[in-house]
Amino acid sequence: TVELNPTLLPLEWLLGTWECDEPGEGSFPTIKPFRYTETLHFSHVGQPVINFMFNAFHAESKKPLHRECGFVRMQPGTNRVAFIIAQNSGLVEIEEGELTGQQLSLQSLQLARTSFAKEPYVKQICRVFQLRSDGKLEQTVSMATDNQPLMQHLRITYRRSS
Ligand code: HEM
Repeated sequence: TVELNPTLLPLEWLLGTWECDEPGEGSFPTIKPFRYTETLHFSHVGQPVINFMFNAFHAESKKPLHRECGFVRMQPGTNRVAFIIAQNSGLVEIEEGELTGQQLSLQSLQLARTSFAKEPYVKQICRVFQLRSDGKLEQTVSMATDNQPLMQHLRITYRRSS
């Protein structure tokens, strides 16, 4: 086991594998509400970077749906955090924000997509990770698209599984 790069000590609580404890809730004005399960993996290899993978599945059919992977970096000596994200839908993003205690609030700064990505296009993403006092991790994601203002798309809680 490699020692965690000291730059990342403020985010040590995020490392490991997280499984949703009950299905997450998905919604948006233009879609039918849905339930999903999701596993998060956060790991490191000693670099000042956290590697992550998020894999989501339909709660009832268990079919794989959304996937994201990427990297987390912290600006040394500050509470500024950056997520560098690739999504299976063809979207890539840079999200940045601040770590306050054990809450991470992120906003998309850059979004790009494949030339043939499905419409509507995502215009903005806001995401919050919070480690709650009961030890559970909560993630909420809001988004704005071409035709909808910023609104919640996802809410889910996880328990640590390793
Ligand atoms: C629909 C974006 C994560 C499941 C959508 C739509 C967009 C979108 C733009 C279409 C909305 C419309 O038609 O107006 C995103 C982004 C995500 C994300 C940016 C992450 C930051 C997830 C996750 C799941 C999920 C984790 C979990 C399974 C769905 C489903 C639909 C949907 C089931 C409706 C059916 C469909 O269009 O495929 N999402 N999504 N999404 N999303 Fe997400």
